[in-house]
Amino acid sequence: MKLLIKNDYKELSLEAAKIIAGEINKKPDLVMCLPTGSSPVGTYKQLIWMNENDDVDFSKVVTFNLDEYVGLGPKDKNSYRRFMDSNLFDHININHDNVNIPSGIAANMENECRRYNKKLDMYPEKDFLLSGIGQNGHIGFNEPADRLFARTHTIDLTSNTIAANARFFDNDINKVPKSAITMGVADILHFKKVVLVACGTAKAPIIKELVTSKTIDTHNTSTLLYLHNDVTVIVDKEAASLL
Ligand code: F6R
Repeated sequence: MKLLIKNDYKELSLEAAKIIAGEINKKPDLVMCLPTGSSPVGTYKQLIWMNENDDVDFSKVVTFNLDEYVGLGPKDKNSYRRFMDSNLFDHININHDNVNIPSGIAANMENECRRYNKKLDMYPEKDFLLSGIGQNGHIGFNEPADRLFARTHTIDLTSNTIAANARFFDNDINKVPKSAITMGVADILHFKKVVLVACGTAKAPIIKELVTSKTIDTHNTSTLLYLHNDVTVIVDKEAASLL
């Protein structure tokens, strides 16, 4: 696991965007997996800028998103579908047929998990995954547990995640969806190259645990990344402050 400590969020975002653009320039039909949340917003801004300046071309890129809230449809301002459109997809030359996000409003969520897994299986070459990290170590919405799901599944969000995400829901925990659909840990580990971004002091304890524990703990999903041989963790000084 490689650790890069950047001076601030802007530098962190630029570094992550440069890596992604480099991967796409090497392989224009890159199959990549993306997160939502605060951490990747700066990276997405940089990628939009690079795309506008013809430094990266998304026309053949295929994307999968890690997760979606159960109960929120694409038009909901807090859905991850809407987040991705407004923070990235609406501003780059991606072919929208190549964008995959699990549905949070499918009539049958079990079928939706199966559909998403089938779609993932259509791309045996999974190239690159960008990830954030929850304060509890979750990757996607693989919440701390004795057993982790290998593949796409629905999951009840922990009170820690609900509290952390209340900021997007008028700081009202009652408005935060209580469950989500997420890719599983095997799905995540199948991507050949992983970049994890984290910023701010709230992430410092979990970054310390991830970087120093050297053990795999299903109660800190991010430590499963020790099983992977190409992981770069990019943090700002605040997230690195306990190292
Ligand atoms: C969201 C996702 C989550 C977030 C994590 C950190 O798609 O996969 O694991 O990456 O909750 O969120 P932020 O970046 O908002 O702190």
